[in-house]
Amino acid sequence: MSNVEFWNRAARNYAKRPISNMPAYEQTLDHVRRHLKSDHETLEVGCGTGSTAFLLAPSVGHYSGTDISLEMIKIAQEKLASDPNDFLDFFVSRATLDDVQTASKDVVLGFNLYHLVPDLDAALAAAHRVLKPGGLFIAKTPCIGKMWYLRPLIKALQLVGKAPPVTFFTSEAYDAAIRSAGFDILETAYYAPNTNNRFVVAKRT
Ligand SMILES: C[S@@+](CC[C@H](N)C(=O)[O-])C[C@H]1O[C@@H](n2cnc3c(N)ncnc32)[C@H](O)[C@@H]1O
Repeated sequence: MSNVEFWNRAARNYAKRPISNMPAYEQTLDHVRRHLKSDHETLEVGCGTGSTAFLLAPSVGHYSGTDISLEMIKIAQEKLASDPNDFLDFFVSRATLDDVQTASKDVVLGFNLYHLVPDLDAALAAAHRVLKPGGLFIAKTPCIGKMWYLRPLIKALQLVGKAPPVTFFTSEAYDAAIRSAGFDILETAYYAPNTNNRFVVAKRT
């Protein structure tokens, strides 16, 4: 099953799922907010149903949420219709951000996304392209390259349509890919014990 098919089918159930670790989520949001300014043009890649977008949009000038899945974006737009905000919008886009203008964003965000894209280097190159010089790339990404025991489980789940395509990379390989896309890494963190979900703040050179 393709990435788009998987996420379109998953969207309505994903929207109902509670946040798995609320303290870690809130800590991440607080940390992201420290980097946001009221005039920032902000783009979130892989925004899902837009939950994080609604929480972060009040901290910036304009916030666009994008996702490969039309069904995810429809849910985000339904929420926006019932809670209108002139400084927030949602549209369908792949992580390659083909329709986003070059050097138009101050911040690119991606949460629980970059292990799901088919080509990490292309996705990071896209984030770099749409950022203004000095702009920030902020992402939280499961780096599961060392968790070899997950591979057969995920493979089995994929065979029955219960897991999306996933890329296994280590935190070292992830950081190296970010640097070679043209970023300086400013901060890294983990907001839960025993997690591989790596938080990175990087600056576009
Ligand atoms: C695990 S969900 C995370 C959603 C949201 N960022 C969050 O943290 O709750 C992954 C999201 O990435 C989207 N996605 C997967 N592959 C993508 C790609 N290549 N380009 C853009 N979005 C993608 C999926 O449709 C889904 O909404």
